[in-house]
Amino acid sequence: MAYIDIYDGWKSDPEAFWMEAARSIDWIRPPSKALFDENAPLYEWFSDGLVNTCWNAVDRHVEAGRGDQLALIHSSPVTHTVKGTTYRELRDHVAEIAGGLRAKGVQKGDRVIIYMPMIPQAVEAMLACARIGAVHSVVFGGFAANELAVRIEDCKPKAIIAASCGIEPGRIVHYKPLLDQAIELSAHKPDFCVIYQREQEICELIPGRDFAWHSFRFGVEPAECVPVEGNHPLYILYTSGTTGQPKGVIRHTAGYLVALSWTMKNIYNIEAGDRFWTASDVGWVVGHSYICYGPLITGATSIVYEGKPVGTPDAGMFWQVIQNHKVKSFFTAPTALRAIRREDPEGLLIKDYNLSNLQAVFLAGERADPETIAWAAKHLKVPVIDHWWQTETGWAIAANPFGIELLPVKPGSPTKPMPGYEIAILDDDGHPVPAGTLGAIAIRLPLPPGTLPGLWNAEARFRKSYLEKFPGYYETGDAGYLDEDGYVYIMARTDDVINVAGHRLSTGAIEEVLAAHPDVAECAVIGAADALKGQMPVGFLCLKKGAQKPHAEVVREVVALVRDCIGPVAAFKSAVVIDRLPKTRSGKILRATMAKIADSESFKPPATIDDPAILDEIRAALQTIGYAKA
Ligand code: COA
Ligand code: AMP
Repeated sequence: MAYIDIYDGWKSDPEAFWMEAARSIDWIRPPSKALFDENAPLYEWFSDGLVNTCWNAVDRHVEAGRGDQLALIHSSPVTHTVKGTTYRELRDHVAEIAGGLRAKGVQKGDRVIIYMPMIPQAVEAMLACARIGAVHSVVFGGFAANELAVRIEDCKPKAIIAASCGIEPGRIVHYKPLLDQAIELSAHKPDFCVIYQREQEICELIPGRDFAWHSFRFGVEPAECVPVEGNHPLYILYTSGTTGQPKGVIRHTAGYLVALSWTMKNIYNIEAGDRFWTASDVGWVVGHSYICYGPLITGATSIVYEGKPVGTPDAGMFWQVIQNHKVKSFFTAPTALRAIRREDPEGLLIKDYNLSNLQAVFLAGERADPETIAWAAKHLKVPVIDHWWQTETGWAIAANPFGIELLPVKPGSPTKPMPGYEIAILDDDGHPVPAGTLGAIAIRLPLPPGTLPGLWNAEARFRKSYLEKFPGYYETGDAGYLDEDGYVYIMARTDDVINVAGHRLSTGAIEEVLAAHPDVAECAVIGAADALKGQMPVGFLCLKKGAQKPHAEVVREVVALVRDCIGPVAAFKSAVVIDRLPKTRSGKILRATMAKIADSESFKPPATIDDPAILDEIRAALQTIGYAKA
């Protein structure tokens, strides 16, 4: 069948489409129906089914005779190791960890935070929670103690599973002091912590609170898979909103299983026994869906890569992994390809490797610039497929469904909506705009299975952030347009979220940190265009009257403060001191105008600007730090 038949088939009978897709999942009790819309506009999927994610991702493949197949391959150039884990080993490890957690009191519905680098134990910890119905919340290792504390405070975990350290090029990331500090900062304290001691760093354990990964499960009964309802939360994943308080995206169990299973074949063309590699991190949604759950639900082999696209040791490492592990579909962020292209513009290193197993490359996480796509397609000689999604959706809203058919590629567009998604482009009043016209991108409700049913502890925020502006639709926060052929183009965010190296950051959260500096009276943060990372945050600081410190020192201090409070992932390195911020007469800071000045783009000063002369001051200040070039 062609894409259009499948999409139209879904549209004409969504219930039948999703019930059919649900047949790929092992149910303990099959659901009576797909959509539960009694509480519209809040929707659930497969709520009355009984199911277990870990069973579907691990045990059933062992039962089906795949026990000796590799489930995971840990490829770690930063530790010079490559190690495989078979499905049987994975089942046994996960059952033991789950048993250990249960013996210490973790039960269905309890939250467990996971703070680990890209090691197979991170995936095992996620699956162990799923096995006993505990709700995991993975926190990316590049976040600092304060961010971890905010998440501990919000989801109140019974336990935290962490590693002793992570390894970044040239430095060890000491997780344990960050963990201790986060627990100290949080009013909520976990009952216990489990620490995976890596040989690169053995950390001290706090007696009575901390247990070593290798010992805490000795002597306990391995845990069996616990049946959970279809609408039981599998995980909470925090993502940036417009304020310093991150949004805890909830993922229900059954819809996610069904949706991911559908995407593996239809989007990525991956089946049981295939090798799939997503070069991301389990701390992001891409890692949840396509390092851990998606490939395993399908019975494929997933590569867990602990390294960078360049510098570990060179720009050929991605190609070496693809060759050595016979990767069939590969998924990364455009920024990673830009980093490789910068070091190897002619793609010479690509020629050193045999990439004959590779069928396609998938890109997401940020806008894929046509030049990068063209470069990759030319040198890799396979389709390079942009697809668009969000932490909230858990899987692609728009993609080129490679496993169904490769639709004609239009550079700059992630192609067409996937079944389940009806995309609308709306003006400010919520009216659809004609093809080719820019507007807010919205999705007609209900969102499909696998997408967020709500935010943890924050239903009002969920409604306000996503459902209220355009009744009957989900507001994506992205702006863009549809062309005459129904291809979607994602152009910008409509809120204060920026995208730095494929990582989603809140300018509001960075502003909160800058404002905490004792000399800062007022501040603003924008995302300025960056050739490698897509965007980089830039801060503007207005100092308090009488502040004595030299400006350069204040800038140094706020840069350090953001690294300490949010983490290195914020990549906050540039700030300038100015006398005043450009504002409208009603006091709104003109961040979008400032970003245009930083990017040397033409713009019309808003009619409501208080004092247009200030824009020249902004331009001059930005020029001192290498932006706003004439
Ligand atoms: N733990 C601790 N620190 C981390 C980290 C982690 N898991 N991941 C990144 N960091 C640190 C980096 O070491 C760096 O620190 P530094 O300021 O001391 O150099 C900082 O956070 C910024 O990291 P990053 O944005 O990754 O920049 P980089 O310069 O190290 O690497 C790229 C640039 C393009 C190679 C890298 O960003 C990349 O591979 N991006 C892919 C993005 C991606 O996978 N996104 C997921 C969505 S699909
Ligand atoms: P995250 O929730 O971290 O996955 O970030 C989601 C946001 O990243 C989206 O709302 C977009 O702004 C951006 N994004 C993700 N994928 C794409 C893409 N393929 N093209 C353009 N922007 C994208």
